[in-house]
Amino acid sequence: MNADLIIDNIGQLVTCASEGKPKRGTSMADVGIIEEAAVAIAGGRFVGIGKAKDIVREFSAKNTIDAKGYAVCPGFVDPHTHIVYAGDRLNEFELKIKGAEYLDILAAGGGIISTVKNTRAASEDDLIESGLLRLDKMLACGTTTVEIKTGYGLDLEAELKMLRVIERLDELHLIDLVPTFLAAHTVPPEFKGNTAGYVDLICDKMLEGAWNWYEASHFAAKSVPFFCDVFTEKNAFDREQTERIITAACSFGFSIKAHVDQFTNLGGSRLAIESGAVSIDHLDAISDDEIELLAASNTIGVVIPTENFSAGKTQFAPARRLIDRGCAVAISTDFNPGSAPCPSQAMAMTISTRYQKLLPSEALNAATVNAAYAIGLGMTLGSIEVGKVADLLICECKDYRQIAYEFGGNLIAMVIKNGRAVE
Ligand code: NIG
Ligand code: FE
Repeated sequence: MNADLIIDNIGQLVTCASEGKPKRGTSMADVGIIEEAAVAIAGGRFVGIGKAKDIVREFSAKNTIDAKGYAVCPGFVDPHTHIVYAGDRLNEFELKIKGAEYLDILAAGGGIISTVKNTRAASEDDLIESGLLRLDKMLACGTTTVEIKTGYGLDLEAELKMLRVIERLDELHLIDLVPTFLAAHTVPPEFKGNTAGYVDLICDKMLEGAWNWYEASHFAAKSVPFFCDVFTEKNAFDREQTERIITAACSFGFSIKAHVDQFTNLGGSRLAIESGAVSIDHLDAISDDEIELLAASNTIGVVIPTENFSAGKTQFAPARRLIDRGCAVAISTDFNPGSAPCPSQAMAMTISTRYQKLLPSEALNAATVNAAYAIGLGMTLGSIEVGKVADLLICECKDYRQIAYEFGGNLIAMVIKNGRAVE
């Protein structure tokens, strides 16, 4: 059979194959290794996967890449980021080093609000330029699909500006993007003291405006889902407000995500799971009952060890317990200027192995196939399986465990995106 590309001489092919469902519980430790392997790619999809001697007999291709005996794994999927923003939070970084708390900085009008001020003032071109640089860093670190949230506009006009920037970034950059509408990130200054009024605006006007944008966007044309997310937290949105927003979003057709239990358990995990959320994210303060509920649901639990690391915390989301109870767990960087300025899923994996006691195999499945399920695209990408999008990483190591073991550098020797080598 003809193929466009064969990647030959793969010492260890780590497929993360999951047979059409997210990995949960004990199956998270299974990464589906094939030694001395090759893959064949045609039309940007995997068409052959197996022992090298079988693949080269079955397929012929114009182009071959010699993987030099290295380990190959799926491209990383980052299911939770906030990479469209202007300005920086370096002053806040120093305040936090001196002991200030994230939620106190937010309550004092800094934090997310300071990034909202800068992002509202920025031009679309400036946001596109800085967004492209961040995507370049992520691609160099092996990330091939990224979810990006709005949430630094907090009025319809500025949120639509962010959505247009995300669509333009998707056109301009090799990384494939998934948009999320996070008008409910926090309460903007003009609604200070009137959270209910801002929730009314979101439900009565902003969701409709965002949904109209989506329907005319190329994301809808490509059947990429559009998510609505809510930050359920003190100084953001309480359980009832979250419920109103999720209910309204579902009526338009949004898929649901939620920032829950990052600092405080307000009942957001239970609410989001029962509302059919595709993912619930952070989960530091999730209760045992909610863990049981999550394990019995189709919702993916996204943990964000970079946030804890960046805040200098010693407590992390109970990812070990989540897996042991049978949940499907994904990892993200949460790349954002405030709580997690980190472009690297490998770094997130590293932290998860040390502080959350994930095995390297569990961390890799969490950053690939389960992360793809956390953005609603698990059926088409996130693992090396016939028919899936051909995104993979040739890693400069013989054993994939090195990806989580080594830190501070970058083991990604080559990225294959949509079946083509990234120059
Ligand atoms: O996931 N928690 C809320 N949102 C982000 C942080 C965004 C920011 O601080 O700018 C998070 O941690
Ligand atoms: Fe976030």
